[in-house]
Amino acid sequence: MSQRVSGKVIPLPRREGTGAEGEPPSRRERAATRVLAVTSGKGGVGKTNIVANLGFTLSRLGKKVMILDADLGLGNLDVLLGIAPRWNISHVIRGERMLADILAEGPGRMQILPAASGIQELTRLNAEQKLQLFSDLDRLIDGVDLLLIDTAAGISSNVMDFSVMAQEIVVVVSPEPTAITDAYALMKVLSLKYAEKSCKLLVNLAASPREAREVFRQLELVTARFLDIRVEYWGHILRDDRLARGVKHQRLVSELYPDSRAGRCFADLARRLIASPPAHRPKGDTHLFWHHLVRSHHP
Ligand SMILES: Nc1ncnc2c1ncn2[C@@H]1O[C@H](COP(=O)(O)OP(=O)(O)OP(=O)(O)O)[C@@H](O)[C@H]1O
Ligand SMILES: [Mg+2]
Repeated sequence: MSQRVSGKVIPLPRREGTGAEGEPPSRRERAATRVLAVTSGKGGVGKTNIVANLGFTLSRLGKKVMILDADLGLGNLDVLLGIAPRWNISHVIRGERMLADILAEGPGRMQILPAASGIQELTRLNAEQKLQLFSDLDRLIDGVDLLLIDTAAGISSNVMDFSVMAQEIVVVVSPEPTAITDAYALMKVLSLKYAEKSCKLLVNLAASPREAREVFRQLELVTARFLDIRVEYWGHILRDDRLARGVKHQRLVSELYPDSRAGRCFADLARRLIASPPAHRPKGDTHLFWHHLVRSHHP
């Protein structure tokens, strides 16, 4: 199986099943990494905090977690975690460092792949740069239980490519009407342009579980009526001043106050995540990226 990208023939590994032809058996038999992309239509709804706290909680539960800051040009995961990595994705794109060289350790021994901040060209990677990055990543996540991808907000091709390469897409929304309409717009692009059949909805900044459910109900109604994408309710994170206080001190609410309103929501979410593996989990090598990426550039 192969596909032409920018004049080059690129082999297309299969996303599911026992692995692509020619794949070494040892690689095929290894446990697959679960890959989740956390994304949103509107900015500032809490993606980075969710990825960081969820990752931390999962690592406390014994999972080997890696986080990719895929907000490539305006990444701030490192700032949130209070770490100051020397290298970041910009050095990889420029060919100065290998992807493995930029790995930094975060709280709970999470492995972090930091993004750059203020480098505009990173928001416009071309297909070949993305393929290179994704195949490096595919190799790097061997032995990792969960890869969480913190994307930028919106529907640019960079954001969408990072989302659709994951097995599971988590759309974060807040109860604000503008966040809800932007979440719908994102789901529309996922469905119409990328033929995604399902995504999970996580409601952040909720005043109560009931308010979060109501947000889900509104989105479910319109998506069921107008789009061919199934939206699964993934739960809520309550609005919590202690989370915001933690941000100011570059510390995670799940680490500082695990019993806070938000801390408990993250613990709950992490436990449910572990208890519910994805329906279509690849058996062998993850083969994340290629299929969707190539298809999105050649509809
Ligand atoms: N559950 C919450 N309770 C209280 N405040 C929150 C909560 N979640 C997020 N916030 C606040 O919202 C701010 C924005 O969060 P965050 O940076 O994680 O959003 P984002 O979606 O990653 O933004 P961007 O789209 O710019 O990447 C945080 O700094 C924090 O102060
Ligand atoms: Mg962010």
